[in-house]
Amino acid sequence: LVRGDGPLVDTVGEEVARACARYGGGVRHSAPGGTGDRDTHGDRTGEPFDLVFALSAAGPLPAVVETVQAEFRRRRGPGESGGRAIGDEGFVIARHDGVTVVLADEAAGLLHGLFHVVRLGETAFGAARPPEHHRPAMPRRMLDHWDHVDVHPVMGQVERGYAGGSIFWRDGAPRGDLGRVRAYGRLLAACGVNAITVNNVNVHATEAHLLTDRLGDVAAIAGELRPYGIRVHLSVGFASPVVLGGLPTADPLDEDVRTWWAGTTERVYETIPDFGGYVVKADSEGQPGPFAYGRDHADGANALADALAPFGGVVHWRAFVYDHRQDWRDRSTDRARAAYDHFARLDGRFRDNVVIQVKHGPIDFQVREPVSPVVAAMPATRVAVELQVTQEYTGQQRHVCYLAPMWSEVLGFRPWGHAGPTVAHLAGAVADGEGGEHDGRAPGGGGGLVGVSNVGDDAYWTGHPLAQANLYAFGRLAWAPWTDPAEILDEWIDLTFVPVATGDPEGLRRTLHAMMDDSWRTYESYTAPLGVGFMVRPGHHYGPDVDGYEYTPWGTYHFADRDGVGVDRTRATGTGFTGQYPPPWSEVYESLERCPDELLLFFHHVPYGHVLHSGSTVIQHIYDTHFAGVERVAELRSLWETLAGTGSVPAALHARVTDLLDEQLRCAREWRDQINAYFLRKSGVPDVHGRRIP
Ligand code: GCU
Repeated sequence: LVRGDGPLVDTVGEEVARACARYGGGVRHSAPGGTGDRDTHGDRTGEPFDLVFALSAAGPLPAVVETVQAEFRRRRGPGESGGRAIGDEGFVIARHDGVTVVLADEAAGLLHGLFHVVRLGETAFGAARPPEHHRPAMPRRMLDHWDHVDVHPVMGQVERGYAGGSIFWRDGAPRGDLGRVRAYGRLLAACGVNAITVNNVNVHATEAHLLTDRLGDVAAIAGELRPYGIRVHLSVGFASPVVLGGLPTADPLDEDVRTWWAGTTERVYETIPDFGGYVVKADSEGQPGPFAYGRDHADGANALADALAPFGGVVHWRAFVYDHRQDWRDRSTDRARAAYDHFARLDGRFRDNVVIQVKHGPIDFQVREPVSPVVAAMPATRVAVELQVTQEYTGQQRHVCYLAPMWSEVLGFRPWGHAGPTVAHLAGAVADGEGGEHDGRAPGGGGGLVGVSNVGDDAYWTGHPLAQANLYAFGRLAWAPWTDPAEILDEWIDLTFVPVATGDPEGLRRTLHAMMDDSWRTYESYTAPLGVGFMVRPGHHYGPDVDGYEYTPWGTYHFADRDGVGVDRTRATGTGFTGQYPPPWSEVYESLERCPDELLLFFHHVPYGHVLHSGSTVIQHIYDTHFAGVERVAELRSLWETLAGTGSVPAALHARVTDLLDEQLRCAREWRDQINAYFLRKSGVPDVHGRRIP
């Protein structure tokens, strides 16, 4: 029984109908106002039901729903019982008297409740369960598509995309496959995502027009995603008033410029009334920005925020601002410092509807980085944390690399040490209903979590079928940041494989855990060591090239010489970056003795003989981890082989992953040999185990 009305409630009704068509049963959808169902478990026809989705305002409600509602209120206690206690996207789930009840204040909550029932599977219909309240920790859970409308001559259709073409655009035009877009909305809603950006942060000539004369293309996408509660945002160029409006300037304090943004934004909302807002990459890697007019990023962001404010829109303003034309000879400039140096001093100057979007690490989505100090440096600003679901630096969806353990470490990091809030809190997480601690909350409400999408038009959506787990985990961690990554993986396995598997589900589960739980650390072990980062092929960023970026303007160096390796970012003798952290981390990272091994080379330049906490020297650690990493990949390959022909996974999928594991093994060997040979040649220190290093 579905009680309530509106487009999202209709979606719930359609979903239940679809499930009934597959598994049996039927659905009745009744709008509010009916009275005949008060005293029985039935609707107006009096027929019984065993699952009900009801909006709290869609009364009179069936008796069983009222019982659950009363029990929920009693448990919440006085003071919280009135009004909309369940929250915008929250839901209450209970099983009472043989009926599973999902109750929500808003239709979006019913939709999330529906996917929760799907996750629970049969257990949703088992023993009685008291009302449980679920609601998202972060209000905005957004995926940014780095899709281009035109095929970019260097970056292709999807920048850093490893899953085929864009699901939205092809060769300068909308793909027109709106069914796929609708299916994508369904997929995202099931993961817990509620916002997307439909074009790349680098806004080129064609993409600029999405804001004005090609707005209809965006509206068409929004129309498909709306039934799944997903709002559409747009990446816009800061120079739009010049590029599109023909104005002589894009100065954010110029009256004509402000009027242009106001009028343009008004038209956007006329076309897409639930439009989410703008995403802006300004003064970054060649994109235009406020610096050209002698203005700062608060001036820039506020100009767009003012245009969006009357309509409730937000601007996600990226903090990824650094000098990409650095002189590699200049060792005083430190790219890691740049975002903090530009943004921390602006704290307090941003409008309420500005969200500063900060990459989780200070450099660029490397396999290991410390948490960006910007996250803790702007207490009066709404900050969103940006993760990279697309695996640009973590194997490009050719390597198995389950990223949830890394994200979970980031979200659980406490910039002020044990007593202070976590990164998840600073991004706006409230711990409620799904466990976690109540020891802090972002003053401005927080900006939520943003991920760079890993989806394309590939049949498995993500190229590597196992990379789907990263998409799922992104949404789940944005909803409930304290969830154990292994538990998320279990959910994903259950939802993805178990329904179609004919083999032994427990064996499948064990194998996938053995392959994926530690895959991020495995990837780390055969690539750039101890937090030093990069060492990838310039341009496409796949595979090893130790000195590929060493003498370039990009600011990503390792400074290896015959004596040692690493970047001195201390206050005492280096770039001073450690001073951007509050204590205790400013002290921990500064200290050679206390700095965690895995970040040692991010913060310190050390001799090859430096002894780690693990007891190994830096050089021996490099050799050991690279040998071990390749062996581990070979094990993954054998583990996967055990699933062949068992019916646990579809044969075509098995073959695809087998091919990819072959490539992972080839590439891991290449990494091992290049890294080990490079450091052997630089240092002259042999491997204590005498293994062959080319
Ligand atoms: C990385 C990536 C670029 C991207 C940039 C960004 O540098 O390689 O393709 O544009 O991040 O986040 O803006």
